[in-house]
Amino acid sequence: MNNVPTFAYAGDILIVDDHLENLQILFSMLTDYGYEVRRTINGQQALNVAMSEPPDIILLDILMPEMDGYEVCRQLKSQKSTASIPVIFLTALDDELDKLRAFEVGGIDYITKPFHIKETIARIENQLTIQKQRRAIAQQNQQLKVQNLRLEELNAELVKLNTKLEQSNQDLEQFAYIASHDLRSPLQTILGFTQILKQKYHEAIDDKGKHYLDRVITGAYRMNKLITALLEYSRIGNKNLEFKPVDGNGILDQVLESLQAEIEQSSAVILRDRLPILHGNEVQIGQLFQNLIGNAIKYRHHHVKPQIKITVEQRINFEYLIGIHDNGIGICAEDFQRIFQVFQRLEHSEEYSGTGIGLAVCQKIVDNHGGRIWVESEENQGTSFYFTLPGEKTMG
Ligand SMILES: Nc1ncnc2c1ncn2[C@@H]1O[C@H](COP(=O)(O)OP(=O)(O)OP(=O)(O)O)[C@@H](O)[C@H]1O
Ligand SMILES: [Mg+2]
Repeated sequence: MNNVPTFAYAGDILIVDDHLENLQILFSMLTDYGYEVRRTINGQQALNVAMSEPPDIILLDILMPEMDGYEVCRQLKSQKSTASIPVIFLTALDDELDKLRAFEVGGIDYITKPFHIKETIARIENQLTIQKQRRAIAQQNQQLKVQNLRLEELNAELVKLNTKLEQSNQDLEQFAYIASHDLRSPLQTILGFTQILKQKYHEAIDDKGKHYLDRVITGAYRMNKLITALLEYSRIGNKNLEFKPVDGNGILDQVLESLQAEIEQSSAVILRDRLPILHGNEVQIGQLFQNLIGNAIKYRHHHVKPQIKITVEQRINFEYLIGIHDNGIGICAEDFQRIFQVFQRLEHSEEYSGTGIGLAVCQKIVDNHGGRIWVESEENQGTSFYFTLPGEKTMG
């Protein structure tokens, strides 16, 4: 047949009609349009075919002997495997009641005889498109379900890993605490006896021996400092901290007082914004300021007067961003992460001494308070350390 459009998505259609003539008309009309068409002449046959190999759509005659179309449709809709197949009724009647009943038993549309080709095709295509879209949505839903399940699994794995990590962190801290605690007493023995050796056997030891002894003593002192720092670090993570409103200005006053000697010796100028009432642990917030301001003074250019600025900015939800800015020697960008790790110090001349634990302590303290800490710096120009801390609702 010429000029007949065939559809790209040709469906599989089952026609049920006891009039062979009707069957034949519909069959040739639909096959010409590219559909795959199966034919049955009674209800029971239609049910068997639909159940064993469900078609995309069923065209169902209403008036048939033995089992009429309504009953066939009712049975189709009551079976899980056939319930979703759209049923279009074929009717010669133009009766309101019949149509109503057709819809009641689950029919989706109807076509009246004699068949009008374009209308018939339009109605079939309409249902097939809906059917196709439904299938696509169901498939997408299924995929989403699978993805969701996978996400839930990943999440559960993450929670597990996190718990494990927390546990091993705690174990490590416990280990660091015990190790440094236990190392202390033999170290005290070494320090004590080398000093006795130096004093009591002063005459008996020659200059070379005294020089060696001095190096042992300096090494032992340094080790003592490192162990003390490690002990301090392993205690910081303690979960049972007391959190309360803390006056930032009061803390800063105390910190600057305890750094008075360094400030005077370096002639540092300190400019400070007014600090808010923070919410946290007083001792730890004090340590945080002490370490950062201590560094800002320590890592200075020796020919330049240190200028240190402490700035405050309020962020949303009463969170504060505090900055400690200096005009010191600066840090190269590739070391920005490393300096927050335990015992990580950058290459310096002898004049900048330290244990390399101060910033690791700062990191832990800020973590304990649910904040963030980071550094911005330019070599030889200066450094800004920033951290966020929770505040109380009233400004200090
Ligand atoms: N304000 C700063 N300017 C330049 N470099 C800095 C500054 N603060 C820290 N650093 C660099 O980061 C390193 C780590 O600092 P951190 O405070 O952890 O250790 P430290 O000062 O060496 O020892 P301590 O444990 O006594 O504080 C320092 O050794 C230094 O190289
Ligand atoms: Mg330091």
